[in-house]
Amino acid sequence: MDICVIGAGYVGLTSSAVLADLGHHVTCVDKNKERIQALNSGESPIFEPGLSELIQKNQNRLTFTDDVGEAIQKNSCIFICVGTPPLPDGSTDLSYVMSVVDDLAANITSKKTVITKSTVPLGTNEMIHRLLLKKGVSPGLFRIVSNPEFLREGSAVHDMFHPDKTVIGLQHGDTTSLEIMKQIYKGIQAPMIVTTLNDAEVIKFTSNAFLATKISFINEVARICDRYQADVTSVAAAIGLDPRIGKHFLQAGVGYGGSCFPKDVSSFIHSAKQRGVETPILEAVQSVNETQLDVYIDKIHSYIGDSLTKKVAVLGIAFKPNTDDTRSSRAVALIQKLDALKFNVMAYDPKAILPTEGLKTAKQAETIADAILDADCLFIATDWPSFKTLDWKKVKTWMKGDLVIDGRNCIDPKEIRKHGLRYIGVGRV
Ligand code: NAD
Ligand code: UGA
Repeated sequence: MDICVIGAGYVGLTSSAVLADLGHHVTCVDKNKERIQALNSGESPIFEPGLSELIQKNQNRLTFTDDVGEAIQKNSCIFICVGTPPLPDGSTDLSYVMSVVDDLAANITSKKTVITKSTVPLGTNEMIHRLLLKKGVSPGLFRIVSNPEFLREGSAVHDMFHPDKTVIGLQHGDTTSLEIMKQIYKGIQAPMIVTTLNDAEVIKFTSNAFLATKISFINEVARICDRYQADVTSVAAAIGLDPRIGKHFLQAGVGYGGSCFPKDVSSFIHSAKQRGVETPILEAVQSVNETQLDVYIDKIHSYIGDSLTKKVAVLGIAFKPNTDDTRSSRAVALIQKLDALKFNVMAYDPKAILPTEGLKTAKQAETIADAILDADCLFIATDWPSFKTLDWKKVKTWMKGDLVIDGRNCIDPKEIRKHGLRYIGVGRV
């Protein structure tokens, strides 16, 4: 099939490469000219394991362009994969989606299936339909399909090839788009959940909100464990064996970050409130997440004291391992808080670049050793595999102090303590 993917970010670029690998001819279009230039010279603008190789492998079925109009005109299936970032009031900035709607209105001259993969607030797909009609597009020329995406950064390619479900939200009376969606995803083995536009949108938000809830729940339990010398990792392992609870997303830590959970929980709350629905559970989820770092900043203060003369090495800048994405990263929030408190902060990450805006003195080191040298405290903020296999004997000799805070509960405390270092985990003995 001839497919146009609008937006060459984590979702759009991965979708483009995977759809090309499934045998389709894909035009991936982005308004960011530098991004398109990079892609046309063989460079991936984002780091995602296996993505560059997949793009390279399918280059004869993949075209990258910044000409949105032409891409819409030439293809019968249009995927919307542009960003939907948060606004200060918690609602969603739909300006990128609206700009796509303008481009669609100006360029739909033959039949199109418009497929929304961006995570859009409740009611947006129906609104896109109404807007296109209002802008004069003939109702016979387009169908809107909601096809939310559930991939995780760091394993985006794998997740898109092996989803646990494919959600297809259709307009009432649409009898043609399901067959088209089946053709698009031919080769992907996953149950297809066929539903309405509104249901598909609610499924996406409920999924992210539930996962965020599990994380905040276990982080609250970790705070209780901390006061009763109990170990949250044993608690999580035990309760996770109950299939009604499940073992995933029960890793206590300094909180969830990334471009999705924080903004999607906010957007869900906002949509609910617009229709007069209160959301005490979702608000508690946010509150635990927002205050989780403070618990560990208090611990740094009480263990190493005066900030002006003390160095904290922060390992991790990305919001999770295997990505260079720092959007709403808890590691970055930690660095900002420590910097504002006048600690001398040296951060390290294997892939991510520290956003320096607003920072007074915090810096990024080239190597782990440079970050840790003379540190009074070492704080693991992102659970990169390379941090788990650090030589703690050497670390002890590099550090001036002895405090290791494992903000992701990713190291065996015995391993740290046996080298004379002090270990503090998240709700862990
Ligand atoms: P991103 O910021 O990485 O990429 C978005 C891209 O769209 C950018 O390259 C931008 O230049 C481009 N763009 C913006 N407006 C455009 C326009 N009018 N025409 C053409 N290109 C345009 O975003 P992302 O992380 O890929 O997320 C995209 C959407 O998918 C969001 O709604 C997000 O919530 C959702 N989502 C993301 C993930 C994830 O893990 N990142 C997972 C599931 C769903
Ligand atoms: C998340 C969802 O997992 C995807 O299904 C969804 O498609 C995506 O959001 C989205 O809608 O964009 P992602 O943000 O890439 O994916 O990363 P996750 O692996 O879910 O991690 C999110 C955050 O939660 C990270 O900061 C991670 O460190 C934290 N986390 C995760 C925990 O603190 N504990 C856990 O047990 C799991």
